[in-house]
Amino acid sequence: MATEADTAQRDAFAERLFGAALGAYELMTVHLGDRLGYYRALAEHGEATPAELAAATGTAERYAREWLEQQAVAGILEVDNVGADPAERRFSLPAAHAEVLSDRDSIAHVTPLARFGVAFAHVLPAVEEAFRSGGGVSWEDFGELGREAQGDANRPVFSNLLGAEWLPSIEDVHERLVADPPARVADVACGAGWSSIAIARAYPKVAVDGLDLDEASIELARANLAGTGVEDRVSFQHRDAGDPELAGSYQLVTVFEALHDMSRPVDVLRALRSLAAEDGAVIVMDERVADSFTAPGDEIERLMYTYSILCCLPVGLADSPSAGTGTVMRADTVRRYASEAGFADVEVLPIEHDFFRLYRLRG
Ligand SMILES: C[S@@+](CC[C@H](N)C(=O)[O-])C[C@H]1O[C@@H](n2cnc3c(N)ncnc32)[C@H](O)[C@@H]1O
Repeated sequence: MATEADTAQRDAFAERLFGAALGAYELMTVHLGDRLGYYRALAEHGEATPAELAAATGTAERYAREWLEQQAVAGILEVDNVGADPAERRFSLPAAHAEVLSDRDSIAHVTPLARFGVAFAHVLPAVEEAFRSGGGVSWEDFGELGREAQGDANRPVFSNLLGAEWLPSIEDVHERLVADPPARVADVACGAGWSSIAIARAYPKVAVDGLDLDEASIELARANLAGTGVEDRVSFQHRDAGDPELAGSYQLVTVFEALHDMSRPVDVLRALRSLAAEDGAVIVMDERVADSFTAPGDEIERLMYTYSILCCLPVGLADSPSAGTGTVMRADTVRRYASEAGFADVEVLPIEHDFFRLYRLRG
C-alpha cells in the first residue's frame, strides 16, 4: 500500500515532468519566434500589435496574434493594454529578454538550445532505431538546424572568451601567437568556423586553417567568414582529421567540442601530433563533465547526458568501428585516448567555464 511519502514522491515527480513538458513546448514557440524573426522585429520596433508584427515579418496575422498572446501569457513578452480588443493589444519585448533571445554575440544568448531541441526531435525516430540496431545517426542528418544550433551555441563563448581570456591565459601559446614569424593555427573539426574566426580576430598576425569532415559545415563556415575582416588569414577545408595523410607544421592545433563526437578519437589525436610543429601546442576543449559517475547529477551533467543520447553518441556510432564515446567524456578518458595516441602528458588547464574544460596535450 502506498504510504504518504510515496504519494508525495509521486506527485512531486509528476509535477516535475509536467514542468518539463511545459518548458519543452514553450521552447518550441521560442524557436518559432526566432525563425520567423518575431523577436528581432519586436526588438527593432519596440512594440507591435498582431497586424504590425505580421506585416513586419511577412507572416499571417491570425498566427502572429496567437503567438503574441502565448508569449505574453508565458511571461516572455509584456502586454501594455491587456483589456483592449485582441487586434489592438500592443506587445513588447523587455530589453533583458531581447538580449537572451536575439543577440547572437551575447554570452546569455540561449536560443540556439531551442534550435538544438527541434533538430533532436527531427531525428528522434532514427535515434530510436539506432537504439535497437546499435547503429548510429550521422551528423549530416541533424541538418541545417543542427549545424546552425551548434555554431550559434558556441559563437558567444568563442567571440567573448577564446581570444580575450582563454588563449591569453596560456602564456607560451599566447606569446607565440603574437610573435614573428606569424604562427599557423589548425582548428580541427571547426564546424561553423566561429573559433577559427575568433582566433584570427584576436591575433592579427596568425593564419588559421579550419577543417571539418562535414561539407555543409565548411560551406557554413565560409559564409560566416564573409565580412568578418579576417578573410585573408582564415581558410576552411573539407578534411577528415583522422586522415593519416594530414601533415603540417602548426604552432597551435585546436579541437573544440568535437573529440567526443569522433568515431576514431585516437587516430585523430595521432594525426594532430603530426600536425603540430616541434614547438607547437595541442589544445582540446570538451564538455566539463564530472570526473566520475554520480547520480543524481547536477544540471550540467544532466544536460550532457541528454546531448549524448539525442545526438553525440548516435553521431559517434554512425561509423564503424567506433570508440562510442558520447558527450560524457571524462578526464580519464581524454588521458587514455591521448596516451594511446602517443602523447606523454595531459594537463587540465585552469580555465573556469560552466560548460567546458580545456586540456593541453603534450607530445
Ligand atoms: C559538436 S561539433 C563542434 C564544432 C565546432 N568545433 C564548435 O565548437 O562549434 C563537432 C564537429 O566535429 C566534426 N568532426 C567529427 N569527426 C571529425 C573528423 N574525423 N574530422 C574532422 N571533423 C570531424 C563534425 O563534422 C562536427 O562539425
